[in-house]
Amino acid sequence: MKPGVLVKYKDFLPVTPETPLFSLGEGDTPLVRCSRLEQEIGCGELYLKLEGCNPTGSFKDRGMVVAIAKALEAGSQTIMCASTGNTSASAAAYAAHCGLSAIIIVPKGNIALGKLTQAIVYEAKIVAINGNFDQALSIVRSLTEKHPVTLVNSVNPHRIEGQKTAAFEIIDVLGNAPDYLFIPVGNAGNITAYWQGFVEYCQAGRASRKPSLMGFQAEGAAPIVRGRVIKKPQTVASAIRIGNPASWQQAVTARDESGGVIDMVSDEEIMAAHRLMATKEGIFGEPASAAPLAGLIKLSQQGMDFSTKQVVCVVTGTGLKDTDVVLKSAQPFLELPADLATVEQALGWG
Ligand code: F0G
Repeated sequence: MKPGVLVKYKDFLPVTPETPLFSLGEGDTPLVRCSRLEQEIGCGELYLKLEGCNPTGSFKDRGMVVAIAKALEAGSQTIMCASTGNTSASAAAYAAHCGLSAIIIVPKGNIALGKLTQAIVYEAKIVAINGNFDQALSIVRSLTEKHPVTLVNSVNPHRIEGQKTAAFEIIDVLGNAPDYLFIPVGNAGNITAYWQGFVEYCQAGRASRKPSLMGFQAEGAAPIVRGRVIKKPQTVASAIRIGNPASWQQAVTARDESGGVIDMVSDEEIMAAHRLMATKEGIFGEPASAAPLAGLIKLSQQGMDFSTKQVVCVVTGTGLKDTDVVLKSAQPFLELPADLATVEQALGWG
């Protein structure tokens, strides 16, 4: 049995004797060496961290297990979040596991169907607003201030605490921090969490260096890159369709302290990387999860030399949550009668 994040990393987490310890099996996700992409890009060592292998299919589970444990410890009965889909799926699952009620607010029409299905099956109370994520988060912040409900968005510091364990795992597996960590940036909680994780592990003597953090936003939803709030963010990567990230300042700090960058990639670059990840390595991430690889390819094409570097890209969520985006542009495939000779002939063996 996997110990889960709370038990495995309890010495680094706000776990007290009163904190309930449970797990849906989050954490300990694969770090996969991608030699075909290394060749394609000209990268020394490239690893993809498969966060889609978490129980609800995204990295959110690492932070949610801590946030829910602390909510239980505090005697809370209801949790609430705004979400582009993954946070709500995770919140609803962990709430169900612990017998709490979950209320989620999502932007109507802009959440991948797999994620909505998750919230439905776990029987969260779902509110779809005619607005975007930023507006949903603003409503949730006001409501959780007024009512006895625990907010479990990443502005809840326990979420960040849990999510930092992904940085620990990378160091535990590689033996030290990589040169670069590429990561998508939406509400900017995860880049904040990774930086905290790398810093803490260094302080604890578990690593002798820290990576440069390379955050990537989508071109139509790139407030940090452009230095201003984006009122109507747009991107195919619905998970990071965010115009006013809650952890904006923390992301800028992570970028600057790590000597990294926060840059942007177009939807075309995201979808090209999405396809490359699948066809070259057999890894199916959701569109937002392809932004880091798209960023690595972009910087490499701009002349940055990764040929002697160790690089980790975080694949933040599984592609099975967002199949629409693939099926919409899929090439037609063969449809034939159930007849041996016909199939044989169509495959060119006739
Ligand atoms: N990748 C995926 C798959 C996500 O779902 C998110 C955020 C991000 C990257 C960006 O992470 O917000 O910490 O910068 N999803 C949130 C949600 C907003 O509601 O599920 P971030």
